This record gives sequence, C-alpha cells and structure tokens, in this order.
Amino acid sequence: MKALILAGGFGTHLMPLTVTVPRALVEFANKPIILYQIEALKGVGVSEVVLAINYKQEVILEFLKEHEKKLGIKITCSQETKPLGTAGSLALAKDKLIDGTGEPFFVLNSDVISEYPLMEMIEFHKGHGGQASIMVTEVIDPSKYGVVVIREATGMVQEFAEKPSTFSRNKINAGIYLLNPSILDQIELKATSIEKEVFPRIAEDKKLFAMSLPGFWMDIGQPRDYIAGQRLYLQFLQQNSSAKLATGPKIVGNVLIDESAVIEDGSLIGPNVVIGPDCKIESGVSLSFCTLLRGVHIKKDAFICSSIMGWNSSVGRGARLQNMTILGEKAKVCDEVFSNGAVLQPHEEMKSSIF
Ligand code: GDD
Repeated sequence: MKALILAGGFGTHLMPLTVTVPRALVEFANKPIILYQIEALKGVGVSEVVLAINYKQEVILEFLKEHEKKLGIKITCSQETKPLGTAGSLALAKDKLIDGTGEPFFVLNSDVISEYPLMEMIEFHKGHGGQASIMVTEVIDPSKYGVVVIREATGMVQEFAEKPSTFSRNKINAGIYLLNPSILDQIELKATSIEKEVFPRIAEDKKLFAMSLPGFWMDIGQPRDYIAGQRLYLQFLQQNSSAKLATGPKIVGNVLIDESAVIEDGSLIGPNVVIGPDCKIESGVSLSFCTLLRGVHIKKDAFICSSIMGWNSSVGRGARLQNMTILGEKAKVCDEVFSNGAVLQPHEEMKSSIF
C-alpha cells in the first residue's frame, strides 16, 4: 500500500521557525511532525511514502534518509517546480502512486496531528464501496476549513465546501484521505485543489464518504493552534502513556521534558510545556503553555507563557514573554525585556520591551 504526504507550501504561518527548517520537520512534542505520520502509515502496512513538496527538498530528503532505514519504509519525493495545489500534486505523483494492484492509497495533509486511526479508515473504505474516504472532525469555528455535510446513516458526503463564507454545520475535513487510484484519472496535471475541485465533484456523484475521526485532532500549521494541539497531545499521553510525562515538585499539569535538558531547582514548569533536548532552564523560571525547541537557554527568573522558543534561542534574566512570542533560531531576548507577541527572526536580538 502507498501513501502521499502533501508537504508543499512555505509554512508562512509558522515563520520564523520555517525560515530555517521546512514545516514538516519542525518538532512537535520533540519529534518532527512528519515522523508521526510516517510511523502511523508504516503501522498499517504502507510500504512507500511519497512526499509531495516544492520547497527545501534536499533538507527533507537528507533528514529522512536515516529514517527510511530505521523505519523500514521507502520514502521518495515528487517535486513540483511550481506549486500544483493539493490535487495537481497528486497528478504529478501518479506513476509513483499506482502499483497495478488497484489498492487505495492514503493522502495526508502534512500539518495535522491526531491519533491517525488509519486501520479503522481502511475498514470504513472497504465497507462503503465509494471512490474516496475522508476523515472529518468537529470544530467550534469551521470558517478556516473544508465544511462537510454528511448523511449520518451512511457517511455519504452530500456537500463539500472549502472555507465557505456561511455554514450551518461544524463537521470539517480533517486532511486525511483514502482514495481509489481511479481518482487520478479525473485530475489534470495543473495547479488545482482537491478541496475545491475534486471532492465537491465526487460528492455530487455520491462516491465520497466521511468517517468521524475518533480522538483528538488539530491543524498545527499556525502558532496558536500548534500550542493548542500540544495541549491535546500531552493530554493524550497522560491518558495513554503517562510515564513519558515529567513528574516532580516543580511540575504542574502535563509536561514533556527531553532527558538531556537541565532544569535548576526553584523553577515552575507547566501546564502544557514541552522542553527539547539540550535546553537549560535556570532557577526561578516560570513556563506555561509553551514549547522550547532544542538548545534553548532560559536565564534566571524569566517568565514565559503561550510562546514558542526556536532552536538555540536564549531568554535573558527576568524577561517576560507572552501572547505568542516566537523566537527564530538563535534569537536572543535581553535581560528584563517584556514581549507581548513579538516575533524575532533567526539571530535577531531584542533589547527593549514591546507592549
Ligand atoms: N505538494 C504540495 N503542493 N502541497 C501543498 C500545496 C502545493 O501546491 N498547497 C498546499 N499543500 C499542502 C500543505 O503543505 C498542507 O499540508 C496541505 O496541502 C493543506 O494545505 P493548506 O494550504 O495548509 O490548507 P489549509 O490548512 O488552509 O486547509 C486544508 O486543511 C484543513 C484541515 O486542517 C484543507 O484540506 C481543508 O479542507 C481542511 O479542513
């Protein structure tokens, strides 16, 4: 069985992290986002994953070479010279996806995180006999997603509308698909969208079916959603493998700490915090709802809430960072500085407060 991961785009919303690292390789809970997906695909018997990309191909391939061996799965690339959209990129990868067996293939948006119930999806797909299956989930505000209207008894999709201006339902496309190869005959090799042009058409033909996704789900392509997704994932760990989470007098709620991180006494960590490898946290520091990627140094008495600290960045003594402050790689916040949502480019230094 094969799979394709839609990993194109510049990851603009996760800037400045994506200035140095492609979005699919940015760590989420101390592991590159794309590895969660590749591991889940491998788990249901997928033998080859095609990455549809148009940006920083060499970096991604270099990184995945070692994992190809470790995971025992073939990883290839289909590179667009210009973005072909979510359907055109499938047309470009057609030869890689068709293996003559007629088996369906998975397609995943690269920026969604969930429990990936892919085996259930295979069963669901076999059961309905249509051409395509999509997973759907419920959100409070569907405006930035594909909204799906379903016939509840069968799961048949009656209507698929990408980011409609008005909507009466809150079931949305979760970005995880299982498609019959015949769908590739209906997609032209040009920039085109699966959500706007392909799914509405198949729904009209009554061949598109939706399965409700059990468990948590989040599109983590934007900083606020990344932190919200982290909260859901840590909660999932708490319920399913709590030994992975940190415990102790300085820990509050769900916290994940790489074992190489050094945390001095007298700091307060949590809730919803992830601390990456080689980080150093000095005494008196308070961290909540935030992520520290590899090699971050937080000096004495700093306070960080709802923020993301990029690789090898540093935060000065007594600094206060909040409201989605994002530090690019090796960015530096000086002592006593206050940041209310500042975004620092890689290597940038913040010497005075931004309110
Ligand atoms: N290869 C390739 N080429 N990939 C692309 C391209 C392209 O030209 N354009 C987008 N992608 C990839 C992105 O990297 C992402 O993984 C996925 O396709 C979806 O594209 P986004 O642009 O991030 O879409 P979105 O987040 O606004 O909406 C999508 O995801 C929602 C769920 O999070 C849609 O699929 C919605 O219907 C869905 O609800």
